[in-house]
Amino acid sequence: MSATIDAPRPAHGIPPTGPRPDETARLEDFGGLEIADMDLSQPLTEAQRDRLLAMFKAHPVLVFRGQSLTKDQQYAFTLNFGEIEGAHVNRLIDAKNYAPVHTVSNLDSEGNPSEVLRERGNYYWHSDKSYHAVPSLLTMLHAVELPPKGGETQFANTAKAYAALPEADKVLVAGLRAIHSWEASRIQSNSRPATAEQMAERPPVDHPVVRTHPDTGAKVLYLGNHASHIVGRPVPDGQVLMRRLLAHATQAPFVYTHRWRQGDLVLWDNRCLVHRALPHEAMGTHRRVLHRTVVKGTVPY
Ligand code: OGA
Ligand code: MN
Repeated sequence: MSATIDAPRPAHGIPPTGPRPDETARLEDFGGLEIADMDLSQPLTEAQRDRLLAMFKAHPVLVFRGQSLTKDQQYAFTLNFGEIEGAHVNRLIDAKNYAPVHTVSNLDSEGNPSEVLRERGNYYWHSDKSYHAVPSLLTMLHAVELPPKGGETQFANTAKAYAALPEADKVLVAGLRAIHSWEASRIQSNSRPATAEQMAERPPVDHPVVRTHPDTGAKVLYLGNHASHIVGRPVPDGQVLMRRLLAHATQAPFVYTHRWRQGDLVLWDNRCLVHRALPHEAMGTHRRVLHRTVVKGTVPY
């Protein structure tokens, strides 16, 4: 195991933890669904919309192939699921990119690909906006520019992870609440620290460690990089527990790795998944650009 000591450290500095793409589950085994026969650029009929919402209830990841949506079309499609949320992170870091349909990319402020990311949070397991009292329901990404190698998105099913916990751990975590915050998220992803103003604007919130999925009734682990420790417990103890639960939840059998193709639109349920981006090869040379929308959810219980 000493081979890693001399391995060159990539400039992006994101540690290579968690399952490798080739170890992880197939989309169908993960519980996801691939859809090839829908054109999302056009307004949906009522029947199509019913089908879409039913698919989303049954599958936490939906992969639509062969799409080509303008930002306006992605905006209109997203509205089928509910209220669209602006990109809080983008507003704090890059006001120009604060829009209902915004961009995730490895581009610097001049628009050039960069290995030294402005934003690293997406590369650590998380559930979108869990640092809000009312976190998000779903997120969708539409591939715009893809790198030749790497840059996959991984999803871990935290309902399956909860179900697979040893009975003693289910007892241990029952009733616990975890602190989620913008500040912890910055620290834990080795990103630029939150400013005092940013912390004041988004004070820490707490959520149940085990939440109930409002549609399926399943118990799920609610955790990730925005979460840090446990309410009413010494901080270090809570951190140890949250890290152990996250390591459990992100084991290969619970994970699907999405290898992006041109035209993909992928949407996922933030209530029962954590996700992360994997760095791509030669990030300083190759562009990775996706259009993103987020739908507001409900208070976790
Ligand atoms: C996100 C996110 C991961 C990726 O947009 O919320 O985490 O693969 N993206 O870009
Ligand atoms: Mn995310």
